[in-house]
Amino acid sequence: MPKLKINDQEIMVEPGTLLLDACKQVGIDIPHYCYHPALTPVATCRMCMVEIKGWPKLATSCTMTAAEGMEVRTDSPAVADARASVMEFLLMNHPLDCPICDQAGECALQDYSYQYGSGDSRMVEPKRRYHYEDLGARIVLDKNRCIHCTRCVRFTQEVSGTSELTMVNRGAELEVTAYSGKSMDSNPLAGNVVDLCPVGALTSRDFRFTKRVWYLKPIPTISRRGAMASPIWADVDENRVWRFRPRPLDDQFATYFILDEERFAYHRYDLDPSTRLTQPMLQGQPSTIEAIVDALRSSGIVAVIGQGTFGCDTAQRLGELATSEHLKFGSGDKLYQIQYPKLQTSGDGIFNRRGFAERGYKFGHLEPLLDMVREGAVKGIVILHDEEFSSARELEILRQILIEAPFSLVMEPIPSEISEWATARLPVATYLEESDFVINHEGKLRRYQKALEPPKGIKPVTAWARALRMNQAAPIA
Ligand code: SF4
Ligand code: FES
Repeated sequence: MPKLKINDQEIMVEPGTLLLDACKQVGIDIPHYCYHPALTPVATCRMCMVEIKGWPKLATSCTMTAAEGMEVRTDSPAVADARASVMEFLLMNHPLDCPICDQAGECALQDYSYQYGSGDSRMVEPKRRYHYEDLGARIVLDKNRCIHCTRCVRFTQEVSGTSELTMVNRGAELEVTAYSGKSMDSNPLAGNVVDLCPVGALTSRDFRFTKRVWYLKPIPTISRRGAMASPIWADVDENRVWRFRPRPLDDQFATYFILDEERFAYHRYDLDPSTRLTQPMLQGQPSTIEAIVDALRSSGIVAVIGQGTFGCDTAQRLGELATSEHLKFGSGDKLYQIQYPKLQTSGDGIFNRRGFAERGYKFGHLEPLLDMVREGAVKGIVILHDEEFSSARELEILRQILIEAPFSLVMEPIPSEISEWATARLPVATYLEESDFVINHEGKLRRYQKALEPPKGIKPVTAWARALRMNQAAPIA
């Protein structure tokens, strides 16, 4: 392992470590634009330059590998001068439209300008101007703001493989654009270019002009619309969710990017409180948890069906309502096409199947359960369900179970038509309104935190299950 000095601090790093990453390991942040840990380094922005003892010129730390005996300085006058010069150069054509730019508040150009810029400009010539360019229905490009870091271009070449973006012309005329006739509409990962763009040149049509980012609070959560339960941020304010973004975990390439389907899934959880069920229902009438407990208790043998898209705590508590360990059934049969094997190693949309299976749930046994209900061996059914993850065939089996069972309790965060067949219903929180964890198909534990406060009367499944369990007569065999 090479040993080197960074600002007089000794450090040993793994062979092949870039200087920029080595600096990070000793707590020194090197300003950068074109470097991105998941993309090939190209050293185009020149913002990351450092001084190396004995070298005639400054070096770009994003392409320079740490070597034995190197003595690196990131705080010398030469480095400060280089950073200020690069900032002045990048701002030559950049508009001063921060007040109306969606990137304001999370803009690397803005931040580095404060930290390393000179404070005034010698530019007296008119700045170049372009019109906004639509890159399809989801992405808008404002080339005036582009600093030509090429992150977006490299992303379409190296990750999505769609190559619809390119750089054209040279010198002051250099610009990023889509190949003529191409948009980003056919790119399922298009939204990632917005996260990658260090300035406000690429913006999301869905999010632009809706919220200033400094009002948003990022809450760590997971993506449910994908097989890997990818870690994401839910940006919330005023008890609403405004966007989903990837939440990269160190050294895990797959966590840097999410599909647009996952990105825009937040709309599903931006629910109108006035349309939600807020109290227990029994036989179609508002009721109480005590009345539902009585009905469940008098039904006899109880089986539970938990969909493997909920958390592990939820699975545990729900399972405790079953009369026997053998009466815990798993549901959900959503499948995804694997488009990007580097990002997604499974097509199984029931991302917590493993967590449920570890807690005794049997998947693929709904038809035998239906037979048991028909034979009278099971009298009561408790179902935790989200229709998004069940096929029409599975929904039909669930519907049959609900029709045949003398008593059924359905818990759905977003009600579907199967609720209509239930004897009783409880108002349950969405996953953004509770904290829990899942175990994905790779065996990785993914936690998610409560991001939103549910309306009064709506509770997590774990709370309802506890209330039901405390009063339920039949113990687990
Ligand atoms: S649009 Fe953004 S990401 Fe693309 S080259 Fe310009 S600054 Fe970089
Ligand atoms: S980050 Fe190193 S040159 Fe751009």
